[in-house]
Amino acid sequence: MENRKVTLSYEDGKSIDFPVLPGTLGPDVVDIRTFSKTGMFTFDPGFLATSACESKITFIDGDLGQLYYRGYPIEQLAEHSDFLESCYLLLNGELPNAEEKKNFDYTVLRHNMLHDQILSFFKGFRRDAHPMAVMVGVVGALSAFYHDSLDINDPHHREVSAFRLIAKVPTIAAQAYRYNKGLPFSYPKAGLTYAENFLHMMFSTPVSEYKVNPVLARALDRIFILHADHEQNASTSTVRLAGSSGANPFACIAAGIACLWGPSHGGANEAVLKMLDEIGSVDNVPAFMEGVKNKTHKLMGFGHRVYKNMDPRAKIMKQTCDEVLNELGLHNDPKFKLAMALEKIALEDPYFIERKLYPNVDFYSGIVLSAIGIPVSMFTPIFALARTVGWIAHWTEMIADPGMKIGRPRQLYTGAVRRDYVPVAERK
Ligand code: CMC
Repeated sequence: MENRKVTLSYEDGKSIDFPVLPGTLGPDVVDIRTFSKTGMFTFDPGFLATSACESKITFIDGDLGQLYYRGYPIEQLAEHSDFLESCYLLLNGELPNAEEKKNFDYTVLRHNMLHDQILSFFKGFRRDAHPMAVMVGVVGALSAFYHDSLDINDPHHREVSAFRLIAKVPTIAAQAYRYNKGLPFSYPKAGLTYAENFLHMMFSTPVSEYKVNPVLARALDRIFILHADHEQNASTSTVRLAGSSGANPFACIAAGIACLWGPSHGGANEAVLKMLDEIGSVDNVPAFMEGVKNKTHKLMGFGHRVYKNMDPRAKIMKQTCDEVLNELGLHNDPKFKLAMALEKIALEDPYFIERKLYPNVDFYSGIVLSAIGIPVSMFTPIFALARTVGWIAHWTEMIADPGMKIGRPRQLYTGAVRRDYVPVAERK
């Protein structure tokens, strides 16, 4: 391929060339690494035009509404794969053969118990703590328990930490819920799949075994697949930035969980259900929509920084949503009727059409989780447990890259110019 370049011309006639780097899919990028030699920096708050890294894991075309994990369309994975197979794919770059799949599943499902002393950690939190607060703390605390896998330069240590995180984060999430409810801790159970085990740990009690409904377990597994990775989103970029300093993987994933918590990111599915509660009934939708258009509030679960077309995950989730509501006979439940009315009105409203605002995955996943009986405060922890594999895959890709550098953005300073200290007695 010919060497392409972009030329920057100055008013005084000087110019500087920057090479153009092609990807296998998606837009080319201008390599501006030498730009600082000009004595200036680029300015791009929110990274609207900046690729912060090279990656081979996930591809998104926001205009066409495409999402691929390692080249495989998300629709095919949601239909034919399961979450642990998708984890293997994201981590290793290829789908496993039958033997590899068996070993991977076995390893993850054998490591889902927590060190018994970790359980005492939970007791330090207030009972009413948000489960995300508990997750940030307890996942970060794993680094105090697994010293034997903290050498980030050792590929075996990295792999062991990856297994530990993927296996144990669901247990931590479920226990955060149970602690909040005052329920006794529930250990994972042999013979269940990843999603079944999560439902078991959430809902079984010593006096009532939770009978897993296969339709609900499959829906949850699909939610896990759809949330497993999403290229350089805010929390993944946070994990990369934290990891670029050499911090251990447990600390980095805790940082990712903290970032995910925000309502513009992983907190949106929780915000969707809160919004439905606030609206209350279909009759109040027109007034609510007026408020959206006046920018008093947003329609949560709509819009996306990258997708300016239907989020492909939302299409799959909508179908799963129908399956779950049918299975549970909830189609006429007022809350779910309200959600469907809201979706229909927004899809036909010029405000949303002109701005290319479509329902995102969180609009439907919130409804599915709620129908399954999962409390709203657990929605973002479930997103976090599914995204753990994506974070780990990106962290591993970055650490294994010999060209890795600590992330250190610069700034446009607009604060005070130099001035001298004034003793307090002389200040006005
Ligand atoms: N409701 C009403 N108006 C909206 C919404 C919304 N949900 N989202 C964007 N807009 C408007 C926004 O006010 C702006 O209008 P105008 O051009 O008149 O100023 C226009 O659409 C463009 O919006 P933007 O703020 O430039 O878009 P963005 O790319 O910066 O924000 C977003 C993306 C996801 C933060 C935003 O759409 C949003 O806050 N949505 C609601 C929260 C949500 O559902 N988040 C989940 C994202 S998907 C899960 C994930 O990947 O984390």
